[in-house]
Amino acid sequence: MSTALSADNLGVVYDHFHALKDVSVSIESGESFGLVGESGSGKSTLLRAVAGLAPVSEGTIEIHGERLLGSKRSKSFYRSVQMVFQDPYGSLHPRQTIDRLLLEPLAIHGIGDGEKRIARALDEVGLGNGFRFRYPHQLSGGQRQRVAIARALIVEPSILLLDEPTSALDASVQAEVLNLLEQIRRDRKLTFVMVSHDLGVITHMCERLAVMRGGAVVERLTSVELAAGSVHEDYTRNLMVASKGFVKA
Ligand SMILES: Nc1ncnc2c1ncn2[C@@H]1O[C@H](COP(=O)(O)OP(=O)(O)OP(=O)(O)O)[C@@H](O)[C@H]1O
Ligand SMILES: [Mg+2]
Repeated sequence: MSTALSADNLGVVYDHFHALKDVSVSIESGESFGLVGESGSGKSTLLRAVAGLAPVSEGTIEIHGERLLGSKRSKSFYRSVQMVFQDPYGSLHPRQTIDRLLLEPLAIHGIGDGEKRIARALDEVGLGNGFRFRYPHQLSGGQRQRVAIARALIVEPSILLLDEPTSALDASVQAEVLNLLEQIRRDRKLTFVMVSHDLGVITHMCERLAVMRGGAVVERLTSVELAAGSVHEDYTRNLMVASKGFVKA
């Protein structure tokens, strides 16, 4: 096993506010790693720091053993690391057809064979070619999120950073998209870092997780430990109680 992503003693400061404090995580290639914690605990900030979108004040980040410098990210970084957000409306340009939206990352990375790759990407996320010339507003929320996933996958990344990828969707659609993500992860041997406030989703999708509070990691668990309620922190126990449908602590 090799390490896909590691953060060491990572700190992020906005003005004088410490949004991340001394965070260390190490995620193996092919692993699915979860981040949980109350609102404002720093989950998105950690993903954003990896993507070069948050002001890192301390510590280091490595992708496949290569250290990232400052907040600059190379083209090759975005080929190996892609992000999927909660709200695909934010990331899908409303006036571009699905075809354009999928072509753009290929153009950016100088990847040819557009026709074939777009057809394959749509097929992989369970949308037929009939969706190619639609606009985002002509799709359901679940379909839009499938397009966002296709757009992330089309450059063949090895790591996906998923920030609440299904929390804007209805429960049944959420399950479909989660199953799709899991299928893709297995087929492509991808590494996932997934944020969710739903602990059921995390135990379903991830092998290990970190519990965050106030910008710090307060507990590390396996999903088996979480599901069995064998946690050390009262804070984690409270998250379990607050997470709908999850076992009572
Ligand atoms: N651009 C910013 N400028 C200033 N403060 C910020 C900025 N982005 C985030 N923060 C602060 O950093 C803290 C962590 O925010 P973050 O978005 O990482 O939380 P989160 O765990 O993802 O929460 P949620 O579950 O609500 O998405 C919060 O207190 C937030 O207000
Ligand atoms: Mg967040």
